[in-house]
Amino acid sequence: MRLDRAASIEDLRLRARRRIPRFAFDLVDGGAESERNLRRNSEAFEEVQLTPRYMVDVSKIDTGTEIFGQSFAAPFGMAPIGMLNAFWPGADLALARLCAAEDIPYVASSAASTTLEALAEAAQSNGWFQLYVSSDESVTEGLILRAKAAGYEVMMVTADVPAAGKRDRDIRNQLSVPFRITPEVLAGLVANPVWSLATLRHGKPNIANYADLLQAATSYADVQKTLITPGFTWEALERLRDRWKGKLVVKGILHPDDAVRCAEMGCDGIVVSNHGGRQVAFGPPTIEALPAIAKALSGRIKIILDSGIRRGADIVRAKALGADFTLAGRALAFGVGAGGEAGARRAFEILSLELVRTLGQVGTPSFSEVGPSLLSRQP
Ligand SMILES: Cc1cc2nc3c(=O)[nH]c(=O)nc-3n(C[C@H](O)[C@H](O)[C@H](O)COP(=O)(O)O)c2cc1C
Repeated sequence: MRLDRAASIEDLRLRARRRIPRFAFDLVDGGAESERNLRRNSEAFEEVQLTPRYMVDVSKIDTGTEIFGQSFAAPFGMAPIGMLNAFWPGADLALARLCAAEDIPYVASSAASTTLEALAEAAQSNGWFQLYVSSDESVTEGLILRAKAAGYEVMMVTADVPAAGKRDRDIRNQLSVPFRITPEVLAGLVANPVWSLATLRHGKPNIANYADLLQAATSYADVQKTLITPGFTWEALERLRDRWKGKLVVKGILHPDDAVRCAEMGCDGIVVSNHGGRQVAFGPPTIEALPAIAKALSGRIKIILDSGIRRGADIVRAKALGADFTLAGRALAFGVGAGGEAGARRAFEILSLELVRTLGQVGTPSFSEVGPSLLSRQP
């Protein structure tokens, strides 16, 4: 299928699946354990009904949104994704450039396959930085200093990875650190020559911000210890709040009490997220967790929502249920997998045109006016 014939994010996903070796596709497409959470994230969006309202002048639709003192052209940004160059070579920079061009936020993952400095430059003033707190304090401090020097003003600390998620597809595909070429991997490389040649040209993807530290790693446990810590606590968040003078956002909140505690601690926002269903299989889909969180926060701090966004209507659904802003992870990543930089643009175009069309259909020409009155059933 040609890129311009891709009608939906799912079309882009299927195109990406045909171009990328199985082990690399599954790395992004997969979820934790039974993948129940991954499936439920999108299903739960579909269950939220909006009642169309007609005879309103919708000749001009305004998707502009302000958050953290900055105006953006649309109410969604790119979620932080680690090691994305393994999915498609050059994916990180393609997406950062897309976000700068389309004037939406780009969240640079601390586990990205491109350095935070290069991503800050590509995203221009639209870059936010996502931090994983390391079990080594000096690693965390180093990242904070670099993020500040690179000009990031928004830092998003991820709370929902006390341990790496168990992803059955990656185990079945025998993904290992250090990377080993198994017969299955070799077969995937041969069957996908465009991907393989592009990867050869770009060089082996790595976790660029920690490249030196990880060179010494001989096991996945070593890598995990550098990247994340099971010891990230409320006290550590409090220290981080004192340490980081810019906007601080906590990513991975699902419980209203945790959301309120973030607000009390002086955080500027939260991301209601289940990591796109990659951490656990048993939790709630984010769109179901959102109403109780929005009620408990009652506007005190900003609410961003991610996990499962595949349609423009999902962004409107999230706003109707109390989110101020959204992030898309796989939706934009599938675009890059389907067609590099042009594919990323196509994914953005699909989501934003669907968003504009939905706002017209529900008779709400300004995104900022979307509210609970559009819901067919109140939560
Ligand atoms: C392959 C992959 C890698 C990810 N890496 C990170 C990461 O490094 N840091 C982080 O906070 N979240 C990470 N996430 C979670 C995303 O930021 C986001 O929460 C999730 O993708 C949203 O769900 P969606 O893909 O259904 O939109 C990752 C997600 C995927 C799919």
